[in-house]
Amino acid sequence: MSSYQIDTPKKYDDSYKKSVNCPETFWDELASQNFIWNKKWSKVIDWDFKKAKVSWFKDAKLNITTNCIDRHAKNTPDKTAIIFEPNDPSEKNKLFTYSELLKEVCKMANVLKSMDVKKGDRVCIYLPMIPELAFSVLACARIGAIHSVVFAGFSSQALATRIDDCKSSLIITSDGSYRGKKILNLKAIVDDALDICETQQKVLLIKRTNELVNLVDKRDFFLEDLIANVDDSCEAEIMDAEDPLFILYTSGSTGKPKGMVHTCGGYMVYTSYTFKNIFQYEEDDVYWCTADIGWITGHSYILYGPLSNGASTIMFEGVPSYPDFSRFWQIIDKYKVNQFYTAPTAIRALAKQGIGFFKNCSLKSLKVLGTVGEPINEEAWQWYNLHVGKDSCPIVDTWWQTETGGILISSIPKVIPDKPTFATKPFIGVQPILLDDEGEELNKPNSVGKLCIKYPWPSIARTIWGNHQRYIDTYFSAFKNMYFTGDGAFKDKEGNFRITGRVDDVIIVSGHNLGTAPIEDAINEHESIVESAIVGFPHEIKGNALYGFITLKYNLENINHIKTEINSLISEKIGPIAKLDKIQITTGLPKTRSGKIMRRILRKIASNQTEDLGDISTLLNPDVVQEIIDNYQI
Ligand code: WT7
Repeated sequence: MSSYQIDTPKKYDDSYKKSVNCPETFWDELASQNFIWNKKWSKVIDWDFKKAKVSWFKDAKLNITTNCIDRHAKNTPDKTAIIFEPNDPSEKNKLFTYSELLKEVCKMANVLKSMDVKKGDRVCIYLPMIPELAFSVLACARIGAIHSVVFAGFSSQALATRIDDCKSSLIITSDGSYRGKKILNLKAIVDDALDICETQQKVLLIKRTNELVNLVDKRDFFLEDLIANVDDSCEAEIMDAEDPLFILYTSGSTGKPKGMVHTCGGYMVYTSYTFKNIFQYEEDDVYWCTADIGWITGHSYILYGPLSNGASTIMFEGVPSYPDFSRFWQIIDKYKVNQFYTAPTAIRALAKQGIGFFKNCSLKSLKVLGTVGEPINEEAWQWYNLHVGKDSCPIVDTWWQTETGGILISSIPKVIPDKPTFATKPFIGVQPILLDDEGEELNKPNSVGKLCIKYPWPSIARTIWGNHQRYIDTYFSAFKNMYFTGDGAFKDKEGNFRITGRVDDVIIVSGHNLGTAPIEDAINEHESIVESAIVGFPHEIKGNALYGFITLKYNLENINHIKTEINSLISEKIGPIAKLDKIQITTGLPKTRSGKIMRRILRKIASNQTEDLGDISTLLNPDVVQEIIDNYQI
């Protein structure tokens, strides 16, 4: 009997135990029964964390697009695969059934072949959230080319670095992109990137905004010219389970971005299995993840996970604020969305707008809500639960990373109860453990430690592109025989994990270890505060002291009053030791495109070292940086 569907606590317990006690048997059965393989494996798992070597389904052959598209095109050809919702609600949407998706992907694959792209070549994809982005990703997978999607909000410099690092031979882009009221000229950014790149590229250009573009002869080609001449069928390249499927760049705390490499077999099995169960996807459900495909969330939980399950998945081109802040709720009602997956930063931004935007939206179709990307604070969790979930949808707080490929810790609707601010329990096959600084396991209930994983799961990244040593150093050197996540976590007596944030955000004040996340949580409970970021700065007596950057909901007359209140809140929730020495009110906090606060920059400002802030061009809101510098508290 297949253990694919986990819909009772007993099934979870049984499967979890089996996955830990007999991992080879467990994954062997799961993978054979639920996927199409051209050839079976000779060994299920082969690993050595010391060398950062992991392989799953050794010698097996497959193509992920056969599993994501062909089998559904055969069984449910008329089922909607992808729903494209354009930036502007007045523009007509587009729906692609599984049989249409198959044709679109095959045509795109044939275009890539006509441009000389071969198995193993890298293709850089720099596109807005339009259907061609999905087709391009899947077309690469179809012919065995390695896709490297770069989020289309990154600057030309960031793009050039990523092109040169993986030495792609082709970049797929569009003339422009729509984001709310703005039009961004993507092709001009690509032109600038290619001017500074060392690697020669061809450019495949998709028309979206009909901007005038600069065309370079023999380098730039319009998709519409090439696609007219190709066939709509294309045989899937037979891939080894351990052949790279894609590279996705993620920023490290230092140095250039790390090109995380994911491979075909394990990634397919794990993203598919987690999608099905964590979202409890049922046959006719409509699923929506608001992430961009430029991030791992989009790779795993807009495309590969949903499609391998034959799901209907929404791709939204726009932003939550356009035409106004009711857009998300409008879309949920329009498509009767059943599972909705978004980020805490979006939740807080929407909560700030008040509940007037829910007017005329029922949100009745919703069954499961999800969050990802950073710890969700209690206030945002409660708001999400009450106003979006109407207090009747479980919230899955899914903890994972670009490096992990799929969700590792999460509650499961009907199976593992949610608990505000807790990601809760490990998914099947995942063996998390908390360690102290000496690498000793923390076994007692209510411990806080460094979160490590002691056994491989199928979708763990295999290496950093071109730099395996960096992969070993970053993830496998801190603790012997462990994958180190870089996060801290708390485990309660029921075994629920609460991610406390990056451990590099710990600040030692007067010899006390203080995590910035709990202090921020305390502050954020203040009714006038939207968001806060705490960093350390050198202090004569205490070693380090705390500097708080605070964003308010409204302009307040009496700022000193709020500063006093912040410190009494902290004293109350954590203790006087965590009180802030300096408090600066700002209109925003510098953020990465995925919504994470760039503490590195704030740390420098707080230490009054603003000469070398590093590259801030990839920020969501670079302008706020100068404002913060100008208002620095001496
Ligand atoms: C880091 C990974 C996973 C896709 C999006 C981000 C933080 C992620 C949670 C969560 C608390 C979370 C961690 C992690 N994070 N999800 N549910 N609760 N923290 O991918 O950019 O690779 O970032 O995001 O700190 O290490 P990423």
